[in-house]
Amino acid sequence: MGLKIAVLKETAAYERRVAATPETVKKYIAKGFDVSVVRGAGALSFYPDQDYADAGARMIGDGHQDSSSQDFSDYDIILCVQSPTPLPRMKPGASLIGLLAPFTPDPRLQHYKNARIHALSMELIPRITRAQAMDVLSSQSNLAGYRAVLEAGYAYARSFPMMMTAAGTVAPARVFVMGAGVAGLQAIATAKRLGAIVSATDVRPAAKEQVQSLGASFVMVDSDEVRNAETAGGYAKEMSQDFKDKQARLIAETIVKQNIVITTALIPGRAAPKLITEAMVRSMKSGSVIVDMAVEQGGNCELSKPGEIVEVDGVKILGFCNIPSHIASDASALYARNLLNLLGILVTQNGELDLKSQDEILRAILLTANGEIVHPQFQNF
Ligand code: NAI
Repeated sequence: MGLKIAVLKETAAYERRVAATPETVKKYIAKGFDVSVVRGAGALSFYPDQDYADAGARMIGDGHQDSSSQDFSDYDIILCVQSPTPLPRMKPGASLIGLLAPFTPDPRLQHYKNARIHALSMELIPRITRAQAMDVLSSQSNLAGYRAVLEAGYAYARSFPMMMTAAGTVAPARVFVMGAGVAGLQAIATAKRLGAIVSATDVRPAAKEQVQSLGASFVMVDSDEVRNAETAGGYAKEMSQDFKDKQARLIAETIVKQNIVITTALIPGRAAPKLITEAMVRSMKSGSVIVDMAVEQGGNCELSKPGEIVEVDGVKILGFCNIPSHIASDASALYARNLLNLLGILVTQNGELDLKSQDEILRAILLTANGEIVHPQFQNF
């Protein structure tokens, strides 16, 4: 019999996604896996139990029980979006695959280690061409960037496009996107599609051309430092105090003219850079909206609060957590395909999971094995 996969019902707050869809379940079964799905796992992303059953999954649990209190010791592979807390029972040697948040300063890595499981952390998928189809950060950030613009539009009491009507002209919104990575570029594209006048900033010079190719203008600090602002992996580095001061002046000048600001700036493994001060918020026109997409990493705006809408002098700051969960059906569909593609390279011809392989994708995401933390970056956690 093939390897046994269990798909968990998520336990984390704000989490509406699911790690497998009926489409991927069907594909796992076609590859010879035996798939079980916890009842109700897809309910919040609109994948009903019946669709999983029709795809060939065995439905387990009573539909009410929390996945973390269920016994999965019969399974070889446990798929999740976020790591269940507390960890459910799994057999030693089983693999837990999901967004396992290895940077979180809690003892979860110790728990994976003590449970003697293989913990595979999807946020560590390397940014190499071969791994693009498994890149969950990209698949989720792209949808989140789109959704953030819609959230802003909903909270904004004016129009995005310019409209010329018999009653007069409605001015277009001015949208400023801070951080032009995956989420930022999709936010730019979405705001442009809605008819806004869009500008964006980043510390990586490579972003300039991408921003301009979407029809937005690029605003950037002119400094030698930006030439080295990008790591080999394509991420931003922490900038010097001198750069931060120059950037703050540029943002202050720019932000005062904006109606909507979407912030996405992140530095992997560190707190998000603080780019918008309270004074900058107060300089904005009443009715303006800021969406702080970095709120869960400490926020790009000094005033944002996770899970809250803060209002200061008529400026709304949306601190939504887990924005991909606001578009849970599509986010789950892409996430589920990312996992399917990963398992496609981990399973051998004989249907075994090869966790000893030196494949660079596996080595980049494997946190624990055989009761040890094996990932070099987390040895001292
Ligand atoms: P991210 O989510 O870590 O950061 C978002 C953006 O914020 C980045 O563009 C970053 O440069 C920017 N940022 C950081 N500090 C800032 C500051 N102080 N001020 C303004 N902006 C700041 O990055 P994301 O979106 O995950 O990807 C970054 C880049 O990685 C992409 O643009 C792309 O070039 C590359 N990439 C490569 C992939 C591949 O080769 N498979 C897949 C996805 C992305």
